[in-house]
Amino acid sequence: MTLIAPSILSADFGHLALDVQAVEAAGADWIHVDVMDGHFVPNLTMGPLVTVAVRRATRLPVDVHLMTEAPERYLADFVKAGADRITVHQETCPHLHRTLEQIRELGALPGVALNPATPVESLREVLPCLDLVLIMTVNPGFGGQAYIPGSTGKIRRTRDLLEAQGRGEVPVQVDGGVDPVTAPELVRAGATVLVAGSAVFGHPDGPGEGVRSLRSSLSVAPTKEAG
Ligand code: DX5
Ligand code: ZN
Repeated sequence: MTLIAPSILSADFGHLALDVQAVEAAGADWIHVDVMDGHFVPNLTMGPLVTVAVRRATRLPVDVHLMTEAPERYLADFVKAGADRITVHQETCPHLHRTLEQIRELGALPGVALNPATPVESLREVLPCLDLVLIMTVNPGFGGQAYIPGSTGKIRRTRDLLEAQGRGEVPVQVDGGVDPVTAPELVRAGATVLVAGSAVFGHPDGPGEGVRSLRSSLSVAPTKEAG
Protein backbone atom coordinates (compact mmCIF):
# COMPACT_ATOMS: atom_id res chain seq x y z
CA MET A 1 0.00 0.00 0.00
CA THR A 2 1.23 3.52 -0.79
CA LEU A 3 1.90 5.56 2.35
CA ILE A 4 0.90 9.22 2.73
CA ALA A 5 3.19 11.53 4.74
CA PRO A 6 1.70 15.03 5.07
CA SER A 7 4.38 17.73 5.32
CA ILE A 8 3.68 20.17 8.17
CA LEU A 9 5.53 22.91 6.27
CA SER A 10 2.09 23.88 4.93
CA ALA A 11 0.20 23.34 8.21
CA ASP A 12 -1.37 26.15 10.25
CA PHE A 13 1.16 26.67 13.06
CA GLY A 14 -1.49 28.48 15.06
CA HIS A 15 -2.96 25.04 15.80
CA LEU A 16 -0.34 22.57 14.64
CA ALA A 17 -1.47 19.76 16.96
CA LEU A 18 -5.04 19.96 15.63
CA ASP A 19 -3.80 19.84 12.04
CA VAL A 20 -1.61 16.82 12.81
CA GLN A 21 -4.50 15.06 14.55
CA ALA A 22 -6.80 15.82 11.62
CA VAL A 23 -4.49 14.13 9.10
CA GLU A 24 -3.93 11.19 11.46
CA ALA A 25 -7.71 10.76 11.83
CA ALA A 26 -8.06 10.89 8.04
CA GLY A 27 -5.63 8.01 7.59
CA ALA A 28 -2.21 9.61 7.09
CA ASP A 29 0.65 7.16 7.67
CA TRP A 30 3.62 9.35 8.67
CA ILE A 31 4.12 13.04 9.61
CA HIS A 32 6.81 14.71 7.52
CA VAL A 33 8.80 17.48 9.25
CA ASP A 34 10.66 19.80 6.86
CA VAL A 35 13.70 21.28 8.59
CA MET A 36 15.42 24.06 6.65
CA ASP A 37 18.41 26.17 7.76
CA GLY A 38 18.38 29.07 5.30
CA HIS A 39 21.81 27.98 4.00
CA PHE A 40 21.44 24.69 2.13
CA VAL A 41 18.00 25.93 1.02
CA PRO A 42 16.77 29.55 0.93
CA ASN A 43 14.05 29.04 3.56
CA LEU A 44 14.30 28.87 7.37
CA THR A 45 11.62 26.74 9.03
CA MET A 46 11.58 24.60 12.17
CA GLY A 47 13.80 22.62 14.54
CA PRO A 48 13.67 20.02 17.34
CA LEU A 49 11.12 22.00 19.41
CA VAL A 50 8.50 21.65 16.68
CA THR A 51 9.36 17.97 16.38
CA VAL A 52 8.65 17.57 20.11
CA ALA A 53 5.25 19.19 19.58
CA VAL A 54 4.49 16.86 16.68
CA ARG A 55 5.64 13.84 18.71
CA ARG A 56 3.22 14.79 21.49
CA ALA A 57 0.33 15.24 19.05
CA THR A 58 0.41 11.90 17.22
CA ARG A 59 1.23 8.20 17.39
CA LEU A 60 2.27 8.20 13.72
CA PRO A 61 5.94 7.82 12.76
CA VAL A 62 7.71 11.21 12.71
CA ASP A 63 9.69 11.52 9.50
CA VAL A 64 12.28 14.32 9.69
CA HIS A 65 13.72 15.72 6.46
CA LEU A 66 16.92 17.68 7.19
CA MET A 67 17.53 20.28 4.50
CA THR A 68 20.49 21.68 6.40
CA GLU A 69 24.23 21.96 6.03
CA ALA A 70 26.17 19.65 8.39
CA PRO A 71 23.09 17.65 9.42
CA GLU A 72 25.27 15.41 11.62
CA ARG A 73 25.28 18.27 14.15
CA TYR A 74 21.55 17.85 14.73
CA LEU A 75 20.94 14.10 14.66
CA ALA A 76 20.91 13.48 18.42
CA ASP A 77 18.63 16.48 19.04
CA PHE A 78 16.04 15.26 16.54
CA VAL A 79 16.10 11.69 17.82
CA LYS A 80 15.67 13.05 21.37
CA ALA A 81 12.79 15.18 20.07
CA GLY A 82 11.04 12.05 18.82
CA ALA A 83 12.12 11.49 15.22
CA ASP A 84 11.57 7.91 14.03
CA ARG A 85 13.19 8.53 10.66
CA ILE A 86 15.86 11.08 9.71
CA THR A 87 16.61 11.80 6.07
CA VAL A 88 19.72 13.75 5.12
CA HIS A 89 20.67 15.18 1.75
CA GLN A 90 23.42 13.45 -0.21
CA GLU A 91 24.55 16.94 -1.23
CA THR A 92 25.27 18.01 2.38
CA CYS A 93 27.11 14.90 3.58
CA PRO A 94 30.77 14.48 2.57
CA HIS A 95 30.84 11.47 4.97
CA LEU A 96 27.39 10.11 4.07
CA HIS A 97 28.15 6.51 5.06
CA ARG A 98 29.19 7.61 8.55
CA THR A 99 26.21 9.93 8.93
CA LEU A 100 23.78 7.15 8.06
CA GLU A 101 25.47 4.86 10.57
CA GLN A 102 25.21 7.63 13.21
CA ILE A 103 21.45 7.94 12.61
CA ARG A 104 21.02 4.20 13.03
CA GLU A 105 23.21 4.09 16.17
CA LEU A 106 20.98 6.80 17.66
CA GLY A 107 17.96 4.54 17.11
CA ALA A 108 16.30 6.18 14.08
CA LEU A 109 15.93 4.88 10.53
CA PRO A 110 18.30 6.62 8.07
CA GLY A 111 17.25 7.98 4.69
CA VAL A 112 19.00 9.81 1.85
CA ALA A 113 17.39 12.63 -0.15
CA LEU A 114 18.49 13.57 -3.67
CA ASN A 115 17.91 17.00 -5.19
CA PRO A 116 16.58 17.08 -8.76
CA ALA A 117 20.08 17.47 -10.25
CA THR A 118 21.70 14.66 -8.23
CA PRO A 119 21.94 11.30 -10.03
CA VAL A 120 20.38 8.18 -8.52
CA GLU A 121 23.66 6.37 -9.15
CA SER A 122 25.28 8.44 -6.38
CA LEU A 123 23.41 6.20 -3.92
CA ARG A 124 25.03 2.97 -5.07
CA GLU A 125 27.70 2.70 -2.35
CA VAL A 126 25.30 3.43 0.54
CA LEU A 127 22.38 1.26 -0.58
CA PRO A 128 23.22 -1.39 2.06
CA CYS A 129 22.96 1.13 4.92
CA LEU A 130 19.85 3.19 4.15
CA ASP A 131 16.19 2.58 4.98
CA LEU A 132 14.63 5.15 2.65
CA VAL A 133 15.37 7.06 -0.52
CA LEU A 134 13.74 10.47 -0.91
CA ILE A 135 13.48 11.80 -4.46
CA MET A 136 12.95 15.56 -4.48
CA THR A 137 10.53 16.42 -7.25
CA VAL A 138 10.93 20.15 -6.67
CA ASN A 139 13.99 22.17 -5.77
CA PRO A 140 13.80 22.12 -1.96
CA GLY A 141 12.87 25.15 0.09
CA PHE A 142 9.20 25.88 -0.30
CA GLY A 143 5.83 24.21 -0.50
CA GLY A 144 3.38 24.81 -3.33
CA GLN A 145 5.89 24.43 -6.18
CA ALA A 146 5.14 22.60 -9.43
CA TYR A 147 6.24 18.98 -9.85
CA ILE A 148 9.33 18.64 -12.08
CA PRO A 149 8.10 16.30 -14.87
CA GLY A 150 11.45 14.61 -15.51
CA SER A 151 11.31 13.24 -11.97
CA THR A 152 9.08 10.32 -12.96
CA GLY A 153 11.88 8.58 -14.82
CA LYS A 154 14.19 9.18 -11.85
CA ILE A 155 11.69 7.51 -9.51
CA ARG A 156 11.59 4.48 -11.79
CA ARG A 157 15.42 4.34 -11.99
CA THR A 158 15.59 4.52 -8.19
CA ARG A 159 13.16 1.64 -7.81
CA ASP A 160 15.07 -0.37 -10.41
CA LEU A 161 18.44 0.28 -8.71
CA LEU A 162 17.08 -0.77 -5.31
CA GLU A 163 15.60 -3.96 -6.71
CA ALA A 164 18.75 -4.76 -8.69
CA GLN A 165 20.79 -4.47 -5.47
CA GLY A 166 18.42 -6.64 -3.43
CA ARG A 167 16.95 -3.66 -1.54
CA GLY A 168 13.51 -3.78 -3.10
CA GLU A 169 11.92 -3.37 0.35
CA VAL A 170 13.36 0.13 0.82
CA PRO A 171 10.67 2.83 0.58
CA VAL A 172 10.97 5.30 -2.30
CA GLN A 173 9.62 8.59 -0.96
CA VAL A 174 8.64 11.45 -3.27
CA ASP A 175 8.50 15.05 -2.09
CA GLY A 176 7.33 18.15 -3.88
CA GLY A 177 4.31 18.93 -6.02
CA VAL A 178 2.51 15.73 -5.02
CA ASP A 179 -1.27 16.02 -5.41
CA PRO A 180 -4.20 13.91 -6.70
CA VAL A 181 -3.18 14.72 -10.30
CA THR A 182 0.50 13.73 -10.04
CA ALA A 183 0.19 10.96 -7.42
CA PRO A 184 -1.01 8.08 -9.64
CA GLU A 185 1.89 8.55 -12.08
CA LEU A 186 4.40 8.58 -9.21
CA VAL A 187 3.05 5.34 -7.77
CA ARG A 188 3.11 3.71 -11.18
CA ALA A 189 6.77 4.71 -11.45
CA GLY A 190 7.57 3.00 -8.13
CA ALA A 191 7.00 5.60 -5.39
CA THR A 192 5.81 4.01 -2.14
CA VAL A 193 5.66 7.04 0.21
CA LEU A 194 4.10 10.32 -0.91
CA VAL A 195 4.94 13.57 0.88
CA ALA A 196 2.33 16.26 0.35
CA GLY A 197 2.17 19.67 1.99
CA SER A 198 -0.04 22.14 0.15
CA ALA A 199 -2.26 19.42 -1.37
CA VAL A 200 -3.13 18.32 2.19
CA PHE A 201 -2.95 21.36 4.46
CA GLY A 202 -3.97 23.74 1.69
CA HIS A 203 -7.07 21.73 0.74
CA PRO A 204 -10.15 24.01 0.72
CA ASP A 205 -12.14 21.49 2.77
CA GLY A 206 -9.42 21.02 5.37
CA PRO A 207 -6.41 18.73 5.88
CA GLY A 208 -8.51 15.62 6.47
CA GLU A 209 -10.13 15.99 3.07
CA GLY A 210 -6.68 16.64 1.62
CA VAL A 211 -5.54 13.20 2.81
CA ARG A 212 -8.73 11.52 1.64
CA SER A 213 -8.60 13.03 -1.85
CA LEU A 214 -4.94 12.02 -2.23
CA ARG A 215 -5.78 8.48 -1.09
CA SER A 216 -8.75 8.18 -3.42
CA SER A 217 -6.66 9.35 -6.38
CA LEU A 218 -4.64 6.16 -5.85
CA SER A 219 -7.56 3.82 -5.53
CA VAL A 220 -7.91 3.62 -9.30
CA ALA A 221 -4.18 3.74 -10.10
CA PRO A 222 -2.68 0.42 -11.23
CA THR A 223 0.42 -0.71 -9.32
CA LYS A 224 3.93 0.03 -10.61
CA GLU A 225 4.26 -0.18 -14.38
CA ALA A 226 5.93 -3.41 -15.42
CA GLY A 227 9.44 -2.98 -16.81
C1 DX5 B 1 10.10 21.27 -0.07
C2 DX5 B 1 9.77 20.31 1.06
C3 DX5 B 1 8.54 19.53 0.74
C4 DX5 B 1 7.36 20.42 0.67
C5 DX5 B 1 6.28 19.76 -0.13
O1 DX5 B 1 11.39 21.71 0.07
O2 DX5 B 1 10.83 19.40 1.25
O3 DX5 B 1 8.29 18.52 1.73
O4 DX5 B 1 6.89 20.72 1.96
O5 DX5 B 1 5.33 20.73 -0.32
P1 DX5 B 1 4.25 20.59 -1.48
O6 DX5 B 1 3.61 19.25 -1.25
O7 DX5 B 1 3.34 21.76 -1.23
O8 DX5 B 1 5.00 20.66 -2.79
ZN1 ZN C 1 10.38 17.37 2.73
